[in-house]
Amino acid sequence: MPQGAGPNADQVAHWNGPAAATWVAIQARLDRQIEPIGRATMDALAPGVGDRVLDIGCGCGASTLELSRRVGAAGEALGIDPSGPMLDVARRRATEAGLAQARFLEADAQTHAFAPASFDKAYSRFGVMFFADPVAAFANVRRALKPEGRIAFLCWRTPAENPIMSLPMAAARPHLPAPASPPDPGAPGPFAFADRSRIETILARAGFADIGVVAHDEKLTAGPLDEAVDTALRMGPLGSFLREHPEFKAAVEPAVRIALAQHQSPRGVFLDSATWIVTARNSTV
Ligand SMILES: C[S@@+](CC[C@H](N)C(=O)[O-])C[C@H]1O[C@@H](n2cnc3c(N)ncnc32)[C@H](O)[C@@H]1O
Repeated sequence: MPQGAGPNADQVAHWNGPAAATWVAIQARLDRQIEPIGRATMDALAPGVGDRVLDIGCGCGASTLELSRRVGAAGEALGIDPSGPMLDVARRRATEAGLAQARFLEADAQTHAFAPASFDKAYSRFGVMFFADPVAAFANVRRALKPEGRIAFLCWRTPAENPIMSLPMAAARPHLPAPASPPDPGAPGPFAFADRSRIETILARAGFADIGVVAHDEKLTAGPLDEAVDTALRMGPLGSFLREHPEFKAAVEPAVRIALAQHQSPRGVFLDSATWIVTARNSTV
């Protein structure tokens, strides 16, 4: 989609640049890691055969494909995302799987002019924390839902509760320069929805009712140790830092390896995750 304009221009550029390159490169292992918690969220939404479902921030499309299987050929799963490179992967996977009812749209969910009341349900796996104006974005999605239409999404709780995201940076910290002042906790980014009351306020202002915010705790696989180290150096807060400062990679890698090795089992490295599974209903009747 056109970059350099719109309220989410910075995020659109980010998700068409290095972040997209990383997700595309290690898509299979990221899908394996977060599939169980994405599935729990989809079960909470319970898409039915024939439903038309919107997948917000669908990325490389794993969840859109699963939604399209659940709604069947009589339904439709539409993945919306501003990342061209990630949607290229999603489209290829849908074609390979023969899922014609999985479709994709390169656009910003905050501003796209959806046909009003055209979806039965909306879903997101970690795709709703990047809006500059979350109330406007969720109001836009709500208008796209039919009256009484439901949404379910998955988002991270705090970094401290999520070693899967924060342990590599904690291990690397002694080898890095002192961090700049801490970012605004509500700023667009993976942890923007860590505060449960913020989620409830945003959804209520956007016109949703019956808002449920349920804590979900689950150990997630990071794969064999070598793979876990590689992922840790490319993803999350440490991966973002190293993309801008690759000169620190050699210094931090041994510390990250030692920290991850402490969570190794015969089945690989497993780390705690802490998420919210959020559900709500369009209050329009
Ligand atoms: C953490 S990734 C998750 C991708 C995918 N849902 C998954 O679980 O594999 C976040 C996704 O949100 C998308 N995103 C960011 N801002 C967005 C916006 N304004 N509208 C729609 N999607 C957005 C990104 O492009 C990216 O694909």
